[in-house]
Amino acid sequence: MIIDKRFQSLFVNITSRAALSSYFLIGKKDKIGADKAAVDTMRNELNKIEMNGKIVIGEGELDEAPMLYIGENVGTKNGPALDIAVDPLEGTNFVANNLPGALSVIAVANKSNLLGAPETYMDKISANCSEPNIIDLDFSVKKNIYNLAESKNQKPENLTACVLDRPRHKKIINELKKLNVKLKLISDGDVAGALMITDKRYSVDIFLGIGGGPEGVLAAAALDAYNCHFQGRFIFNNDKEKDRAKKMGIIDFDKKYELNEIISGDSIFCATGITSGDLVSGIKINENKFTSETLITHKSADLKEIIKTEQII
Ligand code: FBP
Repeated sequence: MIIDKRFQSLFVNITSRAALSSYFLIGKKDKIGADKAAVDTMRNELNKIEMNGKIVIGEGELDEAPMLYIGENVGTKNGPALDIAVDPLEGTNFVANNLPGALSVIAVANKSNLLGAPETYMDKISANCSEPNIIDLDFSVKKNIYNLAESKNQKPENLTACVLDRPRHKKIINELKKLNVKLKLISDGDVAGALMITDKRYSVDIFLGIGGGPEGVLAAAALDAYNCHFQGRFIFNNDKEKDRAKKMGIIDFDKKYELNEIISGDSIFCATGITSGDLVSGIKINENKFTSETLITHKSADLKEIIKTEQII
């Protein structure tokens, strides 16, 4: 089923409003406050929409998240049944420390078309190639780079790889260095990291490494509209994490998820900038108005655009 185009502006409005609420806490060294501001606003705005929405990726489970918890119903309950993944503030450090790249993010699909991701890490890989077997989570770093270089008719040293700068990625980073691949190391924000392969202007050819599972699903939702490649595999560190995943319907803990197993059918994705970053500019205030920039994708409408909106605060 196609998601009506009128939802495009409704969801842009939601992430823009959530971004604005966090904007007021930029540089205040208050990660929790900045997150709460975005969560409260996003929930409030979601509940105004004519839909039967269900949060499949949110701020955690009911026992740990009073707002936008997994399973929470949102919307007026009149309208289409939609699965919703939210990350009201992606990059809490960025807002707390006044750094580039903070986003407010949402992804929406028809009911039962969006994978509910547990709050665990995920091993991820993405690249702008639609052919199969070019990149794969089970290939070595070298094989992925060589295959991608060949498919792009490039030398490995002309490729750029985006990786979260974490000690756990020491091996990957060393491999990439050995191959003379250019690195783009990001301190946080791997939704944007995974999406930087979508357009030449970001100069990133491949994204790889371990980050949040929910962030992986959100990135996959946008990548689906770009016809790019993405794979993810959850990482479970203990039985407690496995038990929680089981409750969400995950039985194969080692499963490698292809993009179409994470999201299927129609979808809308919106990411609004809070602080300016590689993808979009941040919120700007002018007297009683604010301007926001949002990357929006709508699969059935073949929409992949950065749009600017100006609204009354
Ligand atoms: P928050 O906004 O929740 O702080 O997440 C930021 C982030 O960098 C994500 O983009 C990424 O997936 C995750 O944290 C990585 O986790 P860790 O900091 O534990 O490596």
